Amino acid sequence: MIYFSLNNGQQVPSLCFGPGMLTRGFKYQTSLLGKIKNKIKYKKQEFFYYNAICDAIDTGYRFIDYSAAYGREDLIGKAIKESSIERHKFILTTRVTNRTQYDGNIKDAVYRSIERFGTDYIDLLMFHWPVTGKFVETWKQMIELRNEGVCKCLGVSNCHQHHIDLLLFETGETPSINQIEIHPLFNQKTLIEYSRQKGIICEAYTPLARLDERLIRLPLMKKLSLKYGKTISQLILRWHIQNGVIPVFRSLNAMRQKENMNIFDFEILNEDMQRIDSLNINSRLRYDPDNCDFTIL
Ligand SMILES: NC(=O)c1ccc[n+]([C@@H]2O[C@H](COP(=O)([O-])OP(=O)(O)OC[C@H]3O[C@@H](n4cnc5c(N)ncnc54)[C@H](OP(=O)(O)O)[C@@H]3O)[C@@H](O)[C@H]2O)c1
Repeated sequence: MIYFSLNNGQQVPSLCFGPGMLTRGFKYQTSLLGKIKNKIKYKKQEFFYYNAICDAIDTGYRFIDYSAAYGREDLIGKAIKESSIERHKFILTTRVTNRTQYDGNIKDAVYRSIERFGTDYIDLLMFHWPVTGKFVETWKQMIELRNEGVCKCLGVSNCHQHHIDLLLFETGETPSINQIEIHPLFNQKTLIEYSRQKGIICEAYTPLARLDERLIRLPLMKKLSLKYGKTISQLILRWHIQNGVIPVFRSLNAMRQKENMNIFDFEILNEDMQRIDSLNINSRLRYDPDNCDFTIL
């Protein structure tokens, strides 16, 4: 494992596991039978999801990404506890939801998150989106929480340069991390470089571009995969790390979690890094924080 140093002196692993939302593909049901079927489906998914978190910990992942918006902080906390690995060996992230930002009581929401995790503190506290008219106040309350020792380190998510500039202007407090969408189809070079100059490390969400066909079918990726004897996913994760970025991937599959960990025994040559850089087509898979409806995120 390679470690990165944050601007508060903390060391964090360069690869982060994020299980994301438990539920995917649920349809709202009105009938009693539909509701029962949904309940059974949820229980099965919960079992599968919890085991996947335990698998990730067994594989060696210690940097865990979560958000109160994903709804099951309790399962993360349970998996950490049941692993019998000391709490201080984990870097646990959670994010303040947009709903909480509209409500305004950030502190209570973070205390509730901590209670759900069943822990005493959060390592890395972020807000999920820079909600217009709200995120500066959110940031101020997050600073107070950090000063009270409730969390060790502060980050932001989905921030453009102008959002960070405003936070710096209003509070003088530089985030340690900005978690944004980054992958070879949307490489965000300018924002990464701006962040680097400010001492902020970028985390890449959707780092594998969810294995988008436009990326994985490219002859270049296949060629590099053969050249390095690594899968395309491994190459992409390694590309992020060599760019100074921490990829936050999701996989609920134990084999793929192991595959994604197996990226520290090779190095991509500079000319191949540039070839992957050149695949950028500025194509987001997720929302642009300057053009989205924060109430539905
Ligand atoms: N801050 C934000 O607004 C925000 C937004 C989106 C996501 N995130 C964070 O980023 C995490 C990852 O994002 P994401 O799920 O959008 O994107 P991703 O990690 O690029 O893609 C996840 C998909 O890739 C598959 N996968 C993972 N490793 C693989 C491998 N080695 N080979 C083949 N398939 C592989 C997974 O399938 P299997 O499970 O079947 O392996 C899953 O379907 C989330 O869980 C969350 O923590 C944050």
